[in-house]
Amino acid sequence: MYDIHLGAGILAHLGGALRAAGTPPGTRVAVVSNDVVAPLYADQADESLRIAALQPFRCLIPDGEQHKTLTTVRSLYDQFLEGGLDRSGLVLSLGGGVTGDIAGFAAASFMRGVSFAQVPTTLLSMVDASVGGKTGVDLPQGKNLVGAFEQPVTVVVDPKVLSTLDEAEVRSGMAEVIKHGLLGAPDLFAQLEGGPPSPEASLPGSPPLTPDQLAQALQVKIGVVEEDPYERGLRATLNLGHTVGHALERLSGFALRHGEAISIGMVAAARIAVALERAEPELSDRLESALASWDLPTRCSDSHPGPIAAQRIWEAMAHDKKRRRDTLRWILPLAVGRVAISEDVPKEVVISVLHSLGAR
Ligand SMILES: NC(=O)c1ccc[n+]([C@@H]2O[C@H](COP(=O)([O-])OP(=O)(O)OC[C@H]3O[C@@H](n4cnc5c(N)ncnc54)[C@H](O)[C@@H]3O)[C@@H](O)[C@H]2O)c1
Ligand SMILES: [Zn+2]
Repeated sequence: MYDIHLGAGILAHLGGALRAAGTPPGTRVAVVSNDVVAPLYADQADESLRIAALQPFRCLIPDGEQHKTLTTVRSLYDQFLEGGLDRSGLVLSLGGGVTGDIAGFAAASFMRGVSFAQVPTTLLSMVDASVGGKTGVDLPQGKNLVGAFEQPVTVVVDPKVLSTLDEAEVRSGMAEVIKHGLLGAPDLFAQLEGGPPSPEASLPGSPPLTPDQLAQALQVKIGVVEEDPYERGLRATLNLGHTVGHALERLSGFALRHGEAISIGMVAAARIAVALERAEPELSDRLESALASWDLPTRCSDSHPGPIAAQRIWEAMAHDKKRRRDTLRWILPLAVGRVAISEDVPKEVVISVLHSLGAR
């Protein structure tokens, strides 16, 4: 496993982290970022790389999931060549999950693969996307349809950069943090149940999580991908909440943020587990109040643009399943820190749970 450096202000030591990971002095480093993040943090990254005797050059991509395409990857190849990147070079992603997925895929394919490193700058990318080595882009036919496994040489997580992130993005990322707590970090889950720290108790612009809490959330992902690096089984548990969540996200025309959709999806999974008598009702109550305390939605009827029919949600899930030539797979929370994978949840149970969550 590669090193993951985590600490407030650690962006200033990025160059040192790369050198410690075995990057030789003089290495050309393609710093891939977008027009939102680069103006905020690229100068600091460049400076730290130069101090460590590395040779950074900037590569810019447009912001947004709609640009997570092969066209953008192609533009990176051009920028890599212009910047003199060769097989001894390194690609560094400075940005959220979108930047990381694109830059990682470009690194995996350029000259049959060059080294790669990550500086995730959103909460979601810190606890989820930057670890595990999955990279890729979307096709018009669907998300993440082209990709590769590309493990970074190192990941540098500086919670300070979260101070400039939109509050809604932070909230959405919190859904995945709570998910990691529920999956495998009971202490973290318990700490998060009370909601965000009160504004009086925290410095303005400070992240909603302590570095220690971020580390606990990250550790859950690390533990799972270490056991199942190529997604043969266990890694599927990270999809807790995503069966219903993806369907709601799509039905809302992406008006619902990913984390918001996952929040509702997790509640549905917990209620299904309770309905099947595989979990105590207390579990879904605890989860719902934890999510609500972070201002995350917990009802299908909270999803924009208004209530949806349970049957439509079912059809959207079945459509996803057909695309993957798969059975509908449920990740069911059994207790805080314990989940099960189930492929035989009766449709009636799902529909009745969706009704209980305000679907028509
Ligand atoms: N590879 C994986 O394992 C994996 C896992 C989960 C998600 N993903 C992918 O991650 C993507 C979503 O990532 P995301 O939620 O980070 O979205 P994102 O990368 O689009 O970032 C969200 C927004 O925040 C901006 N931003 C990023 N950091 C900022 C900062 N510090 N200050 C101010 N603005 C900042 C971005 O420019 C963007 O506008 C999806 O494409 C998803 O498929 C990948
Ligand atoms: Zn997710």
